[in-house]
Amino acid sequence: MFSPATRVYLPVIQTTRDPMPRSLITGCSSGFGQAIAARFLDEGWEVIATMRRPATEGLPASDRLRILPLDVTQPQSIAAALHEAGPIDALVNNAGVGMLNVLEGAEIDKVRELFDVNVLGTMSMTRAVLPAMRQRRAGVIVNISSSVTLRPLPALSIYSASKAAVNAFTESFALEAAGFGVRARLVLPGSAPETSFGKNAVARMGMDTPEAYGPFVQAYVQSLRNVTAKTSALNVAQAVWRAVTDPDAPMMLPAGADAEAMFRDTARSAA
Ligand SMILES: NC(=O)c1ccc[n+]([C@@H]2O[C@H](COP(=O)([O-])OP(=O)(O)OC[C@H]3O[C@@H](n4cnc5c(N)ncnc54)[C@H](OP(=O)(O)O)[C@@H]3O)[C@@H](O)[C@H]2O)c1
Repeated sequence: MFSPATRVYLPVIQTTRDPMPRSLITGCSSGFGQAIAARFLDEGWEVIATMRRPATEGLPASDRLRILPLDVTQPQSIAAALHEAGPIDALVNNAGVGMLNVLEGAEIDKVRELFDVNVLGTMSMTRAVLPAMRQRRAGVIVNISSSVTLRPLPALSIYSASKAAVNAFTESFALEAAGFGVRARLVLPGSAPETSFGKNAVARMGMDTPEAYGPFVQAYVQSLRNVTAKTSALNVAQAVWRAVTDPDAPMMLPAGADAEAMFRDTARSAA
């Protein structure tokens, strides 16, 4: 396992000006973002935990932790946060929102909002950190996708499309960044009921599920309750840690027993 004493193991660390590697993580007000931040602090990194409304709740106290305001949909907010942060060794694009509804129940304005956060937010953050990483010829960008891109589920078509876009973006971008010593990787968490993601996804429905879909959606929601294999925030933090510190990590890292099982079922696992 990487520790500050063994940091020479990491190409990304070798060329940083600062003695301590620094990560910037988006969406640290809750859920996976907090677990990822805690993991990097445990490993001796400096952590810039960003969130729309800065708060210390849920994050460990540490003199290596800085909390900065950042809304990934606002270019000025991105620029201000990165100016304040200084050079970044690892960017984790974790901020994301869900939407649980059938297509006919999805308001198009809410669809735009979701793509703005999940897709354009990820692209904007990546674009903003890239020039400095490219000049330094070092850096890792980890984008949080989802296991819904491995096995489709109903009532998640909008969300799944946004994460499929993140996958395609990351895989293509990784090819153009590799020549500059910058790595990009994907982490695909499974279902993690411990975070507030599901509750938020329901809140973002925009309108009620159309009546015609009622029995279908009820049966589907019931089937979800019977699923036992789940993902924890610690699983996600571990996968992100590996994506950042293992130069040989594969392009896609499933996180959690459910995501790992889905990944094994896909041709991607053989790649
Ligand atoms: N939980 C799951 O089952 C699951 C499964 C697969 C993938 N994921 C993905 O994992 C990531 C984290 O999800 P989570 O489970 O930790 O959910 P969460 O607890 O709801 O956290 C989502 C985070 O994103 C932030 N966010 C939303 N809009 C933002 C914006 N415009 N700018 C900056 N931050 C914004 C939220 O901040 P606010 O407090 O300001 O809203 C929150 O901190 C997401 O990308 C999600 O799609 C989750």
